[in-house]
Amino acid sequence: MNTYTLKVIEIKKETGNTVTLCFKQPGLKKIKYLAGQYLTLVFKINGRRYLRPYSFSSAPKVDSSLEVTIKRVPNGIVSNYINDEVKVGDVIEVLPPMGDFIYPIVSNIKNVFLWGVGSGVTPLFSLLKFILNEESLSDTQVHLIYGNHNIESSIFWDALHILQQKYSDRLQITHFHTCSQQKENTAISILGRIEPHQVLRNYESDKIKESLHYICGPSDLKNNIKTVLAKYDLPKENVLIEDFELVKNPKDFDGIETRKVILNFENKETELEVTKGKSILEAALDAAIELPYSCQTGNCSTCKGQLKGGKGKMIGIQERKDLLEDEYLLCCTYPLTNNVYIEI
Ligand SMILES: Cc1cc2nc3c(=O)[nH]c(=O)nc-3n(C[C@H](O)[C@H](O)[C@H](O)COP(=O)(O)OP(=O)(O)OC[C@H]3O[C@@H](n4cnc5c(N)ncnc54)[C@H](O)[C@@H]3O)c2cc1C
Ligand code: FES
Repeated sequence: MNTYTLKVIEIKKETGNTVTLCFKQPGLKKIKYLAGQYLTLVFKINGRRYLRPYSFSSAPKVDSSLEVTIKRVPNGIVSNYINDEVKVGDVIEVLPPMGDFIYPIVSNIKNVFLWGVGSGVTPLFSLLKFILNEESLSDTQVHLIYGNHNIESSIFWDALHILQQKYSDRLQITHFHTCSQQKENTAISILGRIEPHQVLRNYESDKIKESLHYICGPSDLKNNIKTVLAKYDLPKENVLIEDFELVKNPKDFDGIETRKVILNFENKETELEVTKGKSILEAALDAAIELPYSCQTGNCSTCKGQLKGGKGKMIGIQERKDLLEDEYLLCCTYPLTNNVYIEI
């Protein structure tokens, strides 16, 4: 896959553990992207190459630079490296923008709900700016429902406040704070976790039936929203979900053992030991085989390989109708037998 390099022109400290990297748009070959997509950053850390996707927090036609916002993950290799080491002037390798957490090309939707927690606000912030700025969507209402510990840990708190004032007739923000110092519920924030039914009961059901929902947050939030929305018979395509992390059910690993796998990458065969619990992609990267990948959540298909022998199992992803019978996404594939042969 082609890669580009982008120069960091500014770093914004968003909260105690989150920064925004602002990249200069190349003068000649501008990077084209859609609000809600992500950019994959490539780093060499202690001799090993790491790729990590980060959603754009900028929006095309709104922000002149390309921006991604990165929150530290405890013990996370890349998120902490970015927060600690990346400086203005650094040149960073990136993959072309990807992702389908985007606004539909044709839509007559009048109410868009953006549900997010913590760093999950990043693609929502991009979508929110895009919708508010887009002339053809000037009669679309945007409802952001945003959960955090408190005001201090809320990424884009000030920027959201400014947008709310500017677009007071089109943008409604409901903040939920689990550890706010405010003792009582106020107009600014509601104490506790996001309660979808509490939010949606403020709207007429006709409005909700024709609304569009973007969700980027933990699986319990996702499931709660889906349960509440099920009552409104919304078309499936009106609920879009972005997962930052693959949630695996330990039960799915029953029967999975450490196995030997033959990997044929670019016509070179390597025997890999895939230890129990590791995906074939992880085992290959541990063995310094630089397979292509990006999201590691079974979404982008960059890591697609063909199973030519033995049996494998994909864990943690939704059914993918676009994959042929022998096609497997190696970021979530685990060998079930000892004679697995993968070609990529
Ligand atoms: C499509 C997509 C868009 C993303 N956009 C953003 C974004 O805009 N901003 C952002 O900060 N992150 C975003 N992420 C997450 C990001 O790509 C990395 O997964 C995250 O920064 C952790 O990487 P790491 O190298 O620091 O952690 P690793 O070293 O890879 O992981 C360390 C440990 O943390 C756990 N972990 C990994 N990711 C997460 C996570 N997101 N939350 C909690 N625990 C985790 C792992 O299970 C592991 O145990 C996105 C992910 C995807 C798939
Ligand atoms: S890396 Fe994106 S699907 Fe595997």
